[in-house]
Amino acid sequence: MDFTLLAFDTIDSTNTEALKQARTGAAEGVCIVARQQTAGRGRHGRTWVSEKDAGLYFSMILRPKIETRRLPLITLAAGIAVHDTLAEIGLGPDIKWVNDVLVAEKKVCGILAETTDTAEGIAVVVGVGINLRSSNFPADIAETATSVEESLGRAIPFDGLVQDLSRHLAEWFGRVDEPETIIDEWSRRSTYAKGKRVRIQLGAETITGTTEGLEANGALRLVKDDGAVISVQAGDVERLRAHPD
Ligand code: BTN
Repeated sequence: MDFTLLAFDTIDSTNTEALKQARTGAAEGVCIVARQQTAGRGRHGRTWVSEKDAGLYFSMILRPKIETRRLPLITLAAGIAVHDTLAEIGLGPDIKWVNDVLVAEKKVCGILAETTDTAEGIAVVVGVGINLRSSNFPADIAETATSVEESLGRAIPFDGLVQDLSRHLAEWFGRVDEPETIIDEWSRRSTYAKGKRVRIQLGAETITGTTEGLEANGALRLVKDDGAVISVQAGDVERLRAHPD
């Protein structure tokens, strides 16, 4: 898959712009990157604080030809691609289901995939926000977030990182028609795939259990503490410590 980069200095949200461009016919592989977002969006309607040069704010347009039930594989593929981008610069990343990339158990990257109907069929926009600097983290995430600069001890040139990320995303999005590969490769990169004690917030309900791999559609299999096995399609996962500290 080829990609084209469109760079903005300031934008409301690279996802919003990419969705707009997808609806007006932009091709698969068009990427929007910005140095600052004024209305960055996270999952579950949260705000993604996006100060100038503090993060990499990036979105790629996809026009997948796969069955709708396979679309969650795109999110997993994005996690693999971000993982490999960060591993290449010397970090030891982990992926927390479904799409948080962590370093030393702190979040360094979030991924927001959104779909829209277009005249050319369904388009998916995959938004990637990588924390580059830890300065000015909002108070509510300061304890649980990290950045490339903080974890690596030095900054990474922005343009090179954008190129590397785009290349890895294009490579892995080109393989979403190989569901088993995506599931296997994601699982190899995530300590959350199997045997992890977690708490999952499912709307108003909180469940605890141990992870037991991914289903073919990317759902997380969980053995609940009462022994029942369930498939989780969406929810916020939190690691449970054996010995709280
Ligand atoms: C999350 O909540 O973890 C997902 C965060 C996704 C943030 C990125 S930054 C680039 C793109 N544009 C947005 O408005 N959001 C995503």
